[in-house]
This record gives sequence, structure tokens and C-alpha cells, in this order.
Amino acid sequence: MEDELNRLAQEARNTLDAVAEPAELEAFRVRFLGRKGLFSTVMRRLGTVSPEDRPRLGQLANTVKQGIEKLYEEKKQALAGASAPTKAAEDLSLPGRHIPFGKLHPVTQVMEEICAIFEGMGFAVAEGPDVELDHYNFAALNIPEHHPARAMHDTFYVSDSILLRTHTSPMQARIMEAQEPPLRYIAPGKVYRCDSDITHTPMFHQVEGFLVDRRVSFADLKGVLTIFTRRMFDDDLALRFRPSFFPFTEPSAEVDIACVICGGKGCRVCKRTGWLEILGAGLIDPEVLKMVNYDPDAYSGFAFGLGVERIAMLKYGIDDIRLFYENDLRFLGQF
Ligand code: DAH
Repeated sequence: MEDELNRLAQEARNTLDAVAEPAELEAFRVRFLGRKGLFSTVMRRLGTVSPEDRPRLGQLANTVKQGIEKLYEEKKQALAGASAPTKAAEDLSLPGRHIPFGKLHPVTQVMEEICAIFEGMGFAVAEGPDVELDHYNFAALNIPEHHPARAMHDTFYVSDSILLRTHTSPMQARIMEAQEPPLRYIAPGKVYRCDSDITHTPMFHQVEGFLVDRRVSFADLKGVLTIFTRRMFDDDLALRFRPSFFPFTEPSAEVDIACVICGGKGCRVCKRTGWLEILGAGLIDPEVLKMVNYDPDAYSGFAFGLGVERIAMLKYGIDDIRLFYENDLRFLGQF
């Protein structure tokens, strides 16, 4: 009987170890500790052993059974702890659990805003390759080899004829080459220049825009850009077209807006001029039209190119472009 008790105790411990949920625990209790359970059955047989063995075996049986009952209680506590709600979860006055969620990068947000404004004026959106042929980045835009304008671009070359595009203007040549006028496109995307300081990052974003049709004039360009800048910044924003030079436009202009920080009075951001440059533009040079076999006497067009980070900086009063690319969530989360 002693052996039997020890075997029963061992079996009970093994079974209890494997118990993982309340239903199994109850089955265990009935099988081992219940009134008709295995321990009771063994104990009932105590009456049949010899009187001299009875006290010793009786005591042993009790000790073994109590040990198992103790393990049973511990298991019961453990299972209850795992499934019952904790005190904290029950306290409905506690603040809710904060679930952090992501959002679009500020540059992406501004990029989408710019595109939406031009789409509203009937421009279609086209995207081109970041890794570009020298031909489209320069030659097709009237920037032949050895032209001094190439030196201004700080180009990353991949090989002699392949480079990372330094602007989105190559999309003018690509689209004109593939289609006939009338055309009205914007081309947003990444551009690359070997340059880095508080207003330059080696990768940044531009949106190119152009329109080709019969009798397109500088007045059309001014109209489209005035609508764009006013929708982007402020309904009665002042605009200034300053003569400039780009090889692919003639005449060319740089466009300034009244300083969004001081309203034109002059401050640190606009370097006391009251004006902020926001984009380059012009009428497409007849040489560029000729290169894609358009007749410059029949067609004319305008083009413009703007920097997305620059517009985002002006819109939000950010003075260091590198903040966009340091992945500091305290900065990025503000937009
Ligand atoms: N591609 C020029 C740049 O990155 C920007 C530009 C100026 C684009 C004038 C144009 C334009 O389409 O007409 O510096």
C-alpha cells in the first residue's frame, strides 16, 4: 500500500503539471481528490490493513494527500491570475492606452498638396527615372557638353553617360519626345546633387511643370504660377518675377513671393529684402522644342521647376533643411 500511495502521488503530480486551463484542473480534482477519487479509494482500504501498520500508513496517506491538495491550490491560483483581468484594467478612471500611429512625411504632404493644386488646373502627373541619361538631364535641355551650366549642378555620375538626375526637367524632354502637343504635365520626384549644408541635402524633391500648345505666352505662365502660390500660401500673396537665366528657357525668370514670415517688411529669413525666391520658370527655349522635332513657329510653351523642401520650409518656418532627413519623430510628428 505504501508503494501504491507513492505511485499515486507521482501520477497526480505529473497530471497536475500538464494542466493548463480551469476545465482540466476540475477534471484533475474529481479524478484524484474527489469523494470517489483515487485518494479516497486508497484511504478507504486502510480499514483492511493490519492494526499495527494502520497508524503509520494512515499518517503517510494523509501527508501525501495534503501535499497534492496544496499543489492543486497553487495551480488554481496560477490559472486564476493568468485569466482574470488585472486591477489596473478594471479601473475605468485610468487614462486610455495611447496607440502611436504614423503619418505622411512633411515633404510628402507638401508634395501631394503641390500636385493637387496643379491637377486642379488640368495638369497630368508623370514620373520618370532617378537614374537618368546625361542626354535628358543636359543635352536635350540645351546644355551641351562643356557648357558652364553643367558645373552648377554638382552632378553624381554613375558612368560617363549615366547620372543621378540633378533636376526634374529631363521629364520635359522625355514627355515631349513621346507625345505631340497640346501637353500639360507636372513631374514630381527626387533629385540629387553633391551638396550639403543648412539649405542643401544631397537628395531633395522637385516638381517640374510645363505646358505646350499654340500661342502660349508669358502671361499664361504668370497666371498659372499666381494661382499656384496663392493656393499654396495665401489668397492675396504678392508675387515678383525677376529676370534670370536657364539654358532651357528664354526668357527666364526666378519667382519670388512676399516673405511669409514678415509679410514683406524685411526680416532675417528674407535677408531684409521682403522677398523669398520659390521657383525658376520661363518660356521653353525654341532650341529645346526643335530637339524633340516640334516646330517652334507653330508651338510655344512655358516651364517651371520648384523645390519641395524649400516650399515646406517657407510654409512651416523651418530654417534647416536637414531636419527633414534626421528621422527625429519629435520634429516629424508636428505636421
Ligand atoms: N531645373 C531647374 C533647377 O533645378 C529649375 C527650373 C528652372 C526648371 C526653370 C524649369 C525652369 O522648368 O523653366 O535648377
